[in-house]
Amino acid sequence: MTALKEKPYAASVSAPWTVDSWRNFDAAQQPQWADDAALRAIEARIHKSPPLVFAEEARSLKTHLGRVSEGKAFLLQGGDCAESFDEPDAIKIRETFKVILQAAVVLTFAGRMPVVKVGRIAGQFAKPRSSDTETRDGIELPSYRGDIINGIDFDEASRAPDPARLLQAYHQSATTLNLLRAFSQGGYVDLHQVNVWNKSFLNNNPLRARYEQLAHSIEETLAFMEVCGITSANTPSIHQTEFFTSHEALLLPYEQALTRCDSLTGDMVDCSAHMLWIGERTRQPDGAHVEFLRGVHNPLGVKIGPDASVDDIRQLASILNPENEAGRLTLISRMGAEKLGDRLPALIRGIAAEGLNVVWSCDPMHGNTVNSSSGLKTRSFDAIIDEIKTFFEVHKAEGSHAGGLHLEMTGQDVTECTGGAYAISDADLKERYRTQCDPRLNGDQVLELAFLVAEMLRESPAAV
Ligand code: PEP
Ligand code: CO
Repeated sequence: MTALKEKPYAASVSAPWTVDSWRNFDAAQQPQWADDAALRAIEARIHKSPPLVFAEEARSLKTHLGRVSEGKAFLLQGGDCAESFDEPDAIKIRETFKVILQAAVVLTFAGRMPVVKVGRIAGQFAKPRSSDTETRDGIELPSYRGDIINGIDFDEASRAPDPARLLQAYHQSATTLNLLRAFSQGGYVDLHQVNVWNKSFLNNNPLRARYEQLAHSIEETLAFMEVCGITSANTPSIHQTEFFTSHEALLLPYEQALTRCDSLTGDMVDCSAHMLWIGERTRQPDGAHVEFLRGVHNPLGVKIGPDASVDDIRQLASILNPENEAGRLTLISRMGAEKLGDRLPALIRGIAAEGLNVVWSCDPMHGNTVNSSSGLKTRSFDAIIDEIKTFFEVHKAEGSHAGGLHLEMTGQDVTECTGGAYAISDADLKERYRTQCDPRLNGDQVLELAFLVAEMLRESPAAV
């Protein structure tokens, strides 16, 4: 792709970046800490602790995402809306990991291209909220902002922001990451095994007949590879995988504390995760989040809601990716099934006209949140699929690469999103509604989604 012809907004960020220059900017969505000294002490402690990821791994992810931006790979990013301190349990981590892998195998096969796997995990603890406070029965308390900041229980002690939680989030991220590294490198993910899991998903699924053909083709391909001598014994990529972590870089003192200078390159890298993203509510070009992230060399995501203009995105790109490096910037559209078709084409055209290297990813979750009749927040599987379908159609029409999906999901059998093969209804939601924040797709819904997206990919291969 062409390099940027001009950098019209570079002047607005001419002041030098330092790891704490964000402190001179307005930071949206931060809690009111009662005790600054206690916070500083925790920051210092985390700063002295080992990094969670290595700079080289973040660079490797950026290279993979560069391939996505060129249309040669696909990004699958998914995990909890918010991780919890209460359930850091190995089975839960394993099930989420497993489902991402299962979905990735289906998408790799259907899209005929590698799938880059990124979890919203091992650090996804901080949440932006629509209001600073929440009122129940006349009592007003600070809103829950994620387990890294305060507790979800509605009482004064729990809702008070507590700096010690940053340290707990760091430790839980480390143990989660440790397990993910073991799963991805230790032979747990043999491709044949993943296929066996997919078959057992289908065996029990009401829509089995619809997806059987695809699963069968994958199985035959694996058998053919085996006959040709491509086995787990001689081909590491069959029994190992690269799995990356990501979270919203919302709580800036935590992100700063984990930022390190890479001894190989001298670059600053936020070692809390491989990829960080900026949320729809914190992407102000003159805000602290953009300031902080412009200086770290990780691959970055930015959420793009329905009101974003080409100019907004161009300005963000010029600040966050002034060198127009491929793989640095992923734009994650989250507009809702109804608005995406109207808004996305102009953005794709505007960004292409500028020659900007970006990955286009689709978050079909956050624009489709509704209140169910029982008052629980939910999302309908059909609306999620509609938004994804529109995403693929628009990219195809624009001659652009539909680069990825960004899902709120879990491997657990929760009832948080309605619909899917098991037709979860509004009335069913309360059965197993366990999310700390937004409703997630359950394991069956994620796999069904993967098979549906596989059909979209196979019907219009030019879309990828
Ligand atoms: C999220 O990804 O959980 C989130 C809060 O998204 P957004 O910034 O798009 O609203
Ligand atoms: Co969410």
